[in-house]
Amino acid sequence: MTDAYAVFGNPIAHSKSPYIHRQFAEQAGQDMSYTKQLVPEGEFGAAADAFFLSGGQGLNVTVPFKMDAYSYAARLTQRARRAGAVNTLALQEDGTLLGDNTDGIGMINDMHNLGWPLAGQRVLVLGAGGAVRGILQPLMEQNPAEVVIANRTFHKAEQLAKGFHDLGDIQALTFEQLEGRQFDLVINGTSASLSGELPPLPESLLAPGASCYDMMYGPEKTVFLQWAEAHGAGRLADGLGMLVGQAAEAFYLWRDIRPEVVPVISALRRKMGKKSS
Ligand code: ATR
Repeated sequence: MTDAYAVFGNPIAHSKSPYIHRQFAEQAGQDMSYTKQLVPEGEFGAAADAFFLSGGQGLNVTVPFKMDAYSYAARLTQRARRAGAVNTLALQEDGTLLGDNTDGIGMINDMHNLGWPLAGQRVLVLGAGGAVRGILQPLMEQNPAEVVIANRTFHKAEQLAKGFHDLGDIQALTFEQLEGRQFDLVINGTSASLSGELPPLPESLLAPGASCYDMMYGPEKTVFLQWAEAHGAGRLADGLGMLVGQAAEAFYLWRDIRPEVVPVISALRRKMGKKSS
C-alpha cells in the first residue's frame, strides 16, 4: 500500500509542501502520497486522529497548529521540546507518534549549502516569536561566538535568552541597544517583512561582507534583504532554502533518506519567478 503523508494548516491552499515532497519522492523512488488538508481551528486533534487511524504514516504541521502538534505527540525530540513547537509527526514502529521540529536544522543546512560560516561568528537574530524559538537550539549547536536576540517587545527576547543560555553565549537587547554593535550574520525572524516593514536597525550594524538571512521569502527581495544589500552585506538569502530544508529533514525522519535540496529550491524559484512576471 502507498504510504500516506500530509500537511495540516489553516490556510493551506498555497502550501508548497506537496510539490516539495513529491519531488523528493520521485528523486528517491519512494511510493508515497502527500496531500494538503485545511483543518478548522480547534480541530487539529480530531483531524490528526482520523488521518492516523486511516493509515497515515506522517504529518507536517504548519500555522496555526504547531503547538497543538506539540501537545499531540506522545514523544518529542530534544529540539522540538526546546522549540516548544512541532512541525513533523512521524508514526513509530511501536504505534506511537514522535514529534520533531525540523525548521531550525532546515535553516542551518541551507546556510551550510550556501557555504556560510557559522562557528565563531557574531550572530544577531531579529524577533523573538515562535519562528525564532524554533531555530535557536540548532543555531547555538554551530558554536557561534555569540548570539544576540533583539526584539521590539524586549521581555520576549529576554525570556528566550534565559531559556537557551545553557547552550552558549546568548543575550537579549532592544533595537536601540544595537547601536555601536556589529555582526557577521544577521537573521531576520520577525514577521515584519510580511507587511513590508523593517525593524529600526543602526546604519553600521553589519560587519564588512556580513551574511544576511531572511526567514521569509517571496518573488521579490524582502525589505530586510534590500536594507542589507544597501548596508554592506556580502551574502544574502531568503527563507526558500529553509522551507525546502525543513521538508528534507521531515522526509529523512519518515523515510530514512536525505533528499537533494538544491534542484528543488531551483525549481521552486523558477515557479515563483514565473508567477511574479
Ligand atoms: P512567528 O511565529 O512568525 O514568529 P510571532 O510569534 O507572532 O510569529 O512573532 C512575530 C515576531 O515578529 C515578533 O518578534 C514580533 O515582535 P513583538 O514580539 O514585539 O511583537 C516581530 N514583529 C512583527 N512585526 C514587527 C515590526 N513591524 N517591527 C518589528 N518587529 C516586528
